[in-house]
Amino acid sequence: MQATRIIMKAQGGPEVMEMEEITLPPPGPGEVTLEQTAIGLNFLDLYQRSGAIPLPLPSPLGMEAAGKVVAVGEGVTDLTVGDRVAYAGVLGSYATARNAPAARMVKIPDGVSGEVVAASLLKGLTVSYLMGRTYKVKAGDPVLFWAASGGVGQIAGQWGADLGATMIGVTGGAENCALLRDLGYAYAIDRTTEDVAARVREITDGKGVPVVYDSVGAASYEASLDCLAPLGMFVSFGATTGPVPPIPAGVLQAKGSLFFTRPTLVDYMRARSDLDHAASELFDRLLAGTVRVNVNHRWPLSEMADAHIALQSGRTTGSTVLFP
Ligand SMILES: NC(=O)c1ccc[n+]([C@@H]2O[C@H](COP(=O)([O-])OP(=O)(O)OC[C@H]3O[C@@H](n4cnc5c(N)ncnc54)[C@H](OP(=O)(O)O)[C@@H]3O)[C@@H](O)[C@H]2O)c1
Repeated sequence: MQATRIIMKAQGGPEVMEMEEITLPPPGPGEVTLEQTAIGLNFLDLYQRSGAIPLPLPSPLGMEAAGKVVAVGEGVTDLTVGDRVAYAGVLGSYATARNAPAARMVKIPDGVSGEVVAASLLKGLTVSYLMGRTYKVKAGDPVLFWAASGGVGQIAGQWGADLGATMIGVTGGAENCALLRDLGYAYAIDRTTEDVAARVREITDGKGVPVVYDSVGAASYEASLDCLAPLGMFVSFGATTGPVPPIPAGVLQAKGSLFFTRPTLVDYMRARSDLDHAASELFDRLLAGTVRVNVNHRWPLSEMADAHIALQSGRTTGSTVLFP
């Protein structure tokens, strides 16, 4: 089968992504061949392209997509030709077709489109573990979430509201603040004009929040620590503006016996049962309409460089999808 995929011979700027025509071999044992219909774009792709996360070269790129099974390899018993499936966390999704391990596939339920799943699986699995396991969000908790207008942030607002939390979103600009009110956030803080920690203290009657989810990193971590109640948890799950520098243990003590964790999706989804649980939590919410996924940006795969530039610059809201 013929396929087009993206390959990088070096890590660097968007120009390192090259298109390549290949002949796909038949699927190996435990693999399926997918004809892909939609590819999800994630900030993680930018780290892997730029070299912030080193990859052995040459390397394919992209971590999630949805598509249709067109061939199954030896030993694959739970998937058949024609199944609609999606995956998150398997390198090489920037392609029209590919082989991938059947063990990482989830079946897309009827009533949910492949595009929506490609736009939300990695982000939704992330929100599931962040709010269900890293810190278990409870009804009534005030929860602070940075990059609230972004792909993960839009899902998190609705998910947290569904759990009964009081979601406080941080975003950039008045237009984005207005957007957050329809996405589960009870409060929107404009990081470009407001003192985030002061505003959080005001909203929580001086108490602070029990948990902060921060993917912005270098530009936000100090404010995040100042927003926490005693014994609160600082969840640093991304580095959009650069990595968080080392935090001295004494700072965590002085600010109220705080907890600090730097979680990753890979570690939380190692067990197949964890993947199934998180995917079913997402699909249930998509089917019930308690989480709506806004695919606000669509690009042909051939224009992935422009899509990367838009995401990198903070110009996007919600999810971005590439079309093979
Ligand atoms: N650890 C994990 O398991 C895991 C899994 C998935 C994603 N992540 C991380 O979560 C973050 C969000 O991922 P995503 O794919 O959904 O991306 P995204 O949030 O859509 O990324 C773009 C958003 O980042 C925000 N941002 C804040 N400061 C920025 C700046 N200086 N420049 C550019 N953008 C800025 C903007 O939102 P506002 O305008 O609303 O602030 C912008 O819309 C990323 O850091 C990603 O690496 C981590």
